[in-house]
Amino acid sequence: MNILLTGGLGFIGSHTAVVLASEGHSVVIVDNLCNSQQQTLGNLELITGKKLPFYEGDVRDVDLLKKILRDHQIECVIHFAGLKSVAESGADPLKYFDNNVSGSIVLIEAMQAEGVKKLIFSSSATVYGVPQYLPYDEEHPLAPMNVYGRTKLQVEEILQDLSKSDPDWSIVCLRYFNPIGAHESGLIGELPQGIPNNLMPYICQVVSGKLPHLNVFGDDYDTKDGTGERDYIHVMDLAEGHAAALAFTNHHQGWEAINLGTGFPYSVYDLISAFEKSAKQSIPKVVKERRSGDLPIYYAKADKAKNLLNWQGKRDLQSMCDSSWNYQDQLTRVPK
Ligand code: NAD
Ligand code: UD1
Repeated sequence: MNILLTGGLGFIGSHTAVVLASEGHSVVIVDNLCNSQQQTLGNLELITGKKLPFYEGDVRDVDLLKKILRDHQIECVIHFAGLKSVAESGADPLKYFDNNVSGSIVLIEAMQAEGVKKLIFSSSATVYGVPQYLPYDEEHPLAPMNVYGRTKLQVEEILQDLSKSDPDWSIVCLRYFNPIGAHESGLIGELPQGIPNNLMPYICQVVSGKLPHLNVFGDDYDTKDGTGERDYIHVMDLAEGHAAALAFTNHHQGWEAINLGTGFPYSVYDLISAFEKSAKQSIPKVVKERRSGDLPIYYAKADKAKNLLNWQGKRDLQSMCDSSWNYQDQLTRVPK
């Protein structure tokens, strides 16, 4: 199929591009490079051995999107383009609503105008909010605790209303849990700008000597070792989940929200231990206060993805850490 990836040079989009291209799909990318680098395109081409059409542009540019959809006879769009910092979303909510919500509306308008009615949307487990029960299944009440999460929920709701108004659409909202890891080549991975907010990229910068130690945000939670527990998922598994969702849209009409997680939570200390094994060095750490807005534990019920998409995460925590380390190690040695 001809697939457009918005935000396709970012962390999850780039790995998905590799999986889709290797399955024989024609992948086109639009990205405004606000959180990625054009060099990633060259690395994608190295990995896939294919030339991938790339447009540097914004999803809020309706004319550009219509032109891309038309020129490449796009059949399905995977919409990764979005801003994802929880802290920044609270400080600058309009920026987040404009980019994430208005950007999605413009994309949908362009798709409607060009008659493209298959869409896979990058949503997040953050739409669930404080767990009423665990694991979160897709029927869990939706009450995001921050602006970022509200932008994701708003787009989900817009898409649900759209599918009710026009049954020709096939829309899949994938609610990702905590993606980490990298492609086995070490050529692509997560490349945060500035000081990272999330655990794995922070660990990578400590191990590479850019940051002195890891701050462990709380060791007094009611969890197995007192630190926060999350459902980490290998980004290549996540990428394969998109390929499975794409196949699903071929025989589906309507709207679905589907968790992409493994169903197994790991603690901050589990992740540190596994990473220390990968990097063969210890990670200096300092226990700090709990981070405001953090939940003690959450993880996915992953049955719906298994039943509807015939997909489940298969790579373990050690493989996630090994691949993150391999990427970080290559970054440190050969600046990309
Ligand atoms: P990322 O920042 O690495 O990738 C997003 C890409 O979109 C970047 O390349 C950025 O330059 C581009 N972009 C942003 N706004 C754009 C716009 N207006 N027009 C064109 N391009 C734009 O993030 P990621 O981790 O790959 O996440 C992809 C999607 O998945 C995002 O929507 C994010 O909110 C969602 N998500 C991510 C996580 C996670 O932990 N990484 C978890 C849940 C959901
Ligand atoms: C965070 C976001 C969430 C978003 C997700 C994307 C917050 C409050 N939540 O989730 O909305 O969808 O990223 O992946 O920002 N930790 C440390 N030290 C660090 C960083 C993190 O101890 O330097 C701990 C956290 O307290 C948490 C765990 O590591 O227990 C995972 O944190 P993180 O990687 O930021 O992900 P989430 O908090 O799940």
